[in-house]
Amino acid sequence: MACMGLLSPVHAAVLTVETPNTQLILDATEGQQLALLYYGDKSATLDDIANSQQLTTNGQSPAYPAFGDIDMIHLPALQVQHADGDLSLNLRVAQVEQQQNVNYQLSIINLRDKLQPVTVRVYYKAWKNVDIIETWTEIEHQEKSPITLKRFDSGYLHIGEGDNVWLTHLHGDWAAEAVVTHEPLTRGLKVIRNTDGARNAHLDAPELMLSLDGAPEENTGRVIGAALCWNGNFELRLNAPNNSGIHFYAGIDPQSSEYILAPTANGQKPKANTFTTPHLALTYSTSGMGGVSRAFHRWARTCGYLHNGNGTRDVLLNSWEGIYFDITEQRIIDMMNDIAAFGGELFVMDDGWFGDKYPRNDDSSSLGDWVVDTRKLPNGLQALTEAAKERHIKFGIWIEPEAVNTVSELYEQHPDWALQVPGRELKLGRGGTQLVLDMTNPKVQDFVFNMVDELLTRNPYISYIKWDANASIQNLGHILTAQRSNSRKGGLTSNSAAVNNLYIDYHLGLLAVLERIRAKYPDIVIQNCASGGGRANYGLMPYFDEFWVSDNNDALQRVFIQWGTSYFFPSNAMAQHIGGSPYQMTNRVIPIKFRCDVAMSGRLGIELQPKHMTDEERLQCTIALADYKALRPIIQLGNLYRLNAPQSYQPVSSQSAPAKQDVAALMYVTDDKKEAVVFAYSLSNFMKQAPQRIRFAGLDPEKVYTLEEKNIRVQYNHTKNAWDAGEPCSLHGKQFTGAYLMSAGLILPLCTEYTQDFPSRIFYLK
Ligand code: DGJ
Repeated sequence: MACMGLLSPVHAAVLTVETPNTQLILDATEGQQLALLYYGDKSATLDDIANSQQLTTNGQSPAYPAFGDIDMIHLPALQVQHADGDLSLNLRVAQVEQQQNVNYQLSIINLRDKLQPVTVRVYYKAWKNVDIIETWTEIEHQEKSPITLKRFDSGYLHIGEGDNVWLTHLHGDWAAEAVVTHEPLTRGLKVIRNTDGARNAHLDAPELMLSLDGAPEENTGRVIGAALCWNGNFELRLNAPNNSGIHFYAGIDPQSSEYILAPTANGQKPKANTFTTPHLALTYSTSGMGGVSRAFHRWARTCGYLHNGNGTRDVLLNSWEGIYFDITEQRIIDMMNDIAAFGGELFVMDDGWFGDKYPRNDDSSSLGDWVVDTRKLPNGLQALTEAAKERHIKFGIWIEPEAVNTVSELYEQHPDWALQVPGRELKLGRGGTQLVLDMTNPKVQDFVFNMVDELLTRNPYISYIKWDANASIQNLGHILTAQRSNSRKGGLTSNSAAVNNLYIDYHLGLLAVLERIRAKYPDIVIQNCASGGGRANYGLMPYFDEFWVSDNNDALQRVFIQWGTSYFFPSNAMAQHIGGSPYQMTNRVIPIKFRCDVAMSGRLGIELQPKHMTDEERLQCTIALADYKALRPIIQLGNLYRLNAPQSYQPVSSQSAPAKQDVAALMYVTDDKKEAVVFAYSLSNFMKQAPQRIRFAGLDPEKVYTLEEKNIRVQYNHTKNAWDAGEPCSLHGKQFTGAYLMSAGLILPLCTEYTQDFPSRIFYLK
């Protein structure tokens, strides 16, 4: 643990918050509005900033604009309705404190309303090892009755740029996550939001980039990156109302969710009269989108935003796409034999293992009944964990703790634990019977914690959990537990207050359970899954080691999905599995070599029925796993450089959007630049196609690198009548300087492979 410094009062009017290469400068004069003077690199001096006309300290660029303080033509980041109905705030700096820590500097600016007893504390946490500044606020009141938070953003930035700012964000859907969307920001209001309730990354995700020098570039240009660390509904707003630049706001979406903040009640913890907004992580890079991505990756790994961030992950086989619900003891043991034979390290039994009165044979029943189905597994989990131990592999298991099916014993016993509105028809999710449990109810929180606790205490060999979440929050209008709610946060007893707060309190309840689990089980690997990548966000990742990137395991589409996901998330967090062919969702036939190479660029796994694999597939997978394990520290912990973007699926609104490519390529480089791994995928293979030159990045220009091809495609040996190791390509063993690889680049032998579609290559550089 780093030692915590004391909070010391600061009296300077100008407050500088700095990371290794960036600075955020505030005017924090006591008695005045807190103003943002500058956010950017360190080239700007205070004189430059003072002489600049772009931003002023007279209240036009408040750091956290409140309704009542700002000109009504602007949008507020904060608006409260006081107990007496007053809607305004006039926030003035009361006190500034700073704390130095080994890893970060924390600045807290206390703002007080001039009239009402409301205090707002604006926080800036500046990391010393990476260019990330986290900002968030605490809103506290001493009014006699509840106040309503109508708008309560985590942070705000005024970006004093002209008309050439581009927005990059991820849009998507189930099985088509993280589609990169680049668009120029035009005048008016652009809103990115997600109202799923329980997950927030499928349709629109809570991260974005703003390229300040026009169309986004991978390695050049000034780019601001932002990630809201929250798993619930959010809103990212970009307002370009006139010629005053861009106003960026990020926070919880207040629709159907204005937060009712109770008055002070003695002795309550956390304090019922205080609301803390989620953290907003900001970064600024002069090295394009790649610089922003690398900052987020380093921050996630080293600053606690990815559980066990600096650790590598095991290679696994997951049972889902191989056998779905058709679990039997023999099938599971066979699959364990297979993954052990491939050289894998972990087996994960997915959905379908539980349910007593209602067996989980499809998705229409049993969620909530976390007991082994002894018809499928007569010797229980113990027989499976023993079998795993004998095979020297680890064992993992799937659960969906926040959900219940109406066809379940749990629902029969505790119908009131599910979110629903009495008298109204239930809106049912997956399988036609799925509901979401009320995670605000302390009894539900205990149920979820105890279920996980029992599973892990009774089966101490379980080392991995896949935590799924396949339903959004529906049926919002009544909290059946509100009547016995004196233990609810805030002591709010009215149903309407509890309903208002539910979209938020649900997640606070979930986080409280995850805290308890992590306190007791810090070393269990937990995968975050929500119908694929529906919960890839930094609100949850501090508790999870990785996330399932997508239910779509088609290797071609995965190149695109993984590409977009890498904009904000590091490779050791991205679960990528070798799927079957033809692939069940798209019916596409893809050679095993390409499937392996695509999965190998993140946390590698396999998800198919090994029994159905051909000899070619088995041999290629065995080679892939061995090579991957040798390269794993570079791939999982190296610095990512995206070299050639895949063809965009997304219509773009300008000619200057990234060029369409036939080859997607990326690489990981170690911190000392001594080693690297390059992945190149040909996405369309035409005869006589123009060769694609790939320029590498991130290398030491002086160093001479030797290229070694990895996961070489297997070939049929007619003498042996069997599949055999293949021949490496012509670049294998060749040497080049880093300077040459980065300036001239190489034509990788991809399109010459006209005998097979989807050629791909992996090179190790040392
Ligand atoms: C959705 C997940 O995304 C899948 O990987 C799988 O675990 C299923 N749920 C199981 O029901």
